[in-house]
Amino acid sequence: MGKDVIVACDFAGAQAVYGFLDRFAGEKKPFVKIGMELFYAEGPEIVRQIKKRGHRIFLDLKLHDIPNTVKKAMAVLSALDVDICNLHAAGTRAMMEAALEGLTRPDGTRPLLIAVTQLTSTDQRSMERDLLIREPLDQVVLHYAATARSAGLDGVVCSPLEAGKIHERFGGDFLTVTPGIRFADGDRGDQKRVTTPAEAKKIGSDYIVVGRPITAAADPVAAYERCVAEFVD
Ligand code: C5P
Repeated sequence: MGKDVIVACDFAGAQAVYGFLDRFAGEKKPFVKIGMELFYAEGPEIVRQIKKRGHRIFLDLKLHDIPNTVKKAMAVLSALDVDICNLHAAGTRAMMEAALEGLTRPDGTRPLLIAVTQLTSTDQRSMERDLLIREPLDQVVLHYAATARSAGLDGVVCSPLEAGKIHERFGGDFLTVTPGIRFADGDRGDQKRVTTPAEAKKIGSDYIVVGRPITAAADPVAAYERCVAEFVD
């Protein structure tokens, strides 16, 4: 799969997301990320409808449960015909292997499966205090990525700042999907460690996940095209 911009459609309901996607009529159809808020509000039908409109979909539900439950849930998500789905690497290698077993379609294809390593909302202090993990955060991220790779997953969600190190260690075909993207002249919002689309390209991210810089822009299509121009072209 080539490099691409994934638009985080963090909208509260179907009408808001359709209104947003309608703006792209006649343009290149963006790769879309559907997260928990929209999925829990609208159910699987929102995935079917956006797929029917011709968008590729990253379904960002971050599964984490016992292996058997995750395996069965992944079978349901495969049938939704999404392109990428994800889980927490903290669920262990057994859970990730079970997830892959569940990701099957009758035609032999399957969605890409990527792992969340440590959420970017977790810092060294909260990881030590709340999770009793005392190793340096960057080592923990690399360890989770190694476990995901050995379980057979296709890549990880990580900060663009970690993408270079992950490719160095695990090779160019292990995907890095990176949120935390802001234009050089844009508002950071609540994101702390940010990079521009151009920097993410230089570091080697495979996919950037961009939400508010596009969804909250006065001209979302122009903002999307600016991301594509900086990151892909
Ligand atoms: O609006 P913004 O560009 O910050 O959106 C980033 C998207 O990526 C959001 O949907 C957010 O939930 C998601 N994300 C993130 N950091 C992670 C994992 C996911 O920002 N570590």
